Amino acid sequence: MPDGPMDEANIARCFTLMDEAVEWLVSIGRADQWGDVPWSKSERLSKFLRETCARDDLFGWFIETGECLGALIGGSAAPDYASMFPVNEPEVYIEVLVTSSRRRGQNLGATLVGVVKAHAQDRGISLVRVDCYNGGDGQLTRWYEKTGFSKVGVFEMPGWKGCVLEQRV
Ligand SMILES: CC(C)(COP(=O)(O)OP(=O)(O)OC[C@H]1O[C@@H](n2cnc3c(N)ncnc32)[C@H](O)[C@@H]1OP(=O)(O)O)[C@@H](O)C(=O)NCCC(=O)NCCS
Repeated sequence: MPDGPMDEANIARCFTLMDEAVEWLVSIGRADQWGDVPWSKSERLSKFLRETCARDDLFGWFIETGECLGALIGGSAAPDYASMFPVNEPEVYIEVLVTSSRRRGQNLGATLVGVVKAHAQDRGISLVRVDCYNGGDGQLTRWYEKTGFSKVGVFEMPGWKGCVLEQRV
C-alpha cells in the first residue's frame, strides 16, 4: 500500500530530497537536469511539484528511518507534458522518484520501483511507466533501463530533453 496521499508533510519530504538531489547533481557536473537552484527555492519547480501533488490520484511511498531517504510519487495517468504516448489500459505512472544522495549505491530507488510494481500487480495493473531527463550522456535513462524499463519515445521541452519509459509487470 502507498504510505499516504500527497499532503503537506509528504510534499515537504519530497522537497527535502529534491533539494539534496540538486546539490548532488551540481556537485557532479549534472546541473543540466534540474538546474542549480533547489526545488524549494525555485518558483518554477516548486509550482510544478505542488501542482503535481494536488492531483487526487497521487500517492507517495517513502523510505523512512527517522529521516526520509527515498520517495516515489505515483499516479494513474501520464502528466500532460508526456501525454504524446497514450495507452489504452490502466497504468501506474511514476511522477517523482528521488533518493537521498547520502545513500547512493544502496539501490533505494530500485527498491521503490519494486514496491510500485508489486502495488500495480496487486491491482491487476500490468503497466508501469515513468519519464526522465534524457539529455546529457543519457546516464539516467540507462539507470531506468537497467531497472527494467524500456524506452517508449522521446520528447522535448524548451531547453530540456526527456523520454518516456515503460515496464510490464
Ligand atoms: C535515480 C535514483 C532514484 C536511483 O536510486 P538508487 O536505486 O538508490 O541508485 P543510486 O542512487 O545508487 O544511483 C544508481 C546510479 O545512477 C546514477 N544516477 C543517479 N541519478 C542520476 C542522474 N540524475 N543522472 C545521471 N546519473 C544518475 C548514480 O550516479 C549511480 O551511478 P553508478 O552506478 O555509476 O554509481 C537516485 O539516484 C536519485 O534520486 N537520483 C537523483 C534524482 C533523480 O534524477 N531522480 C530521477 C528523476 S526521473
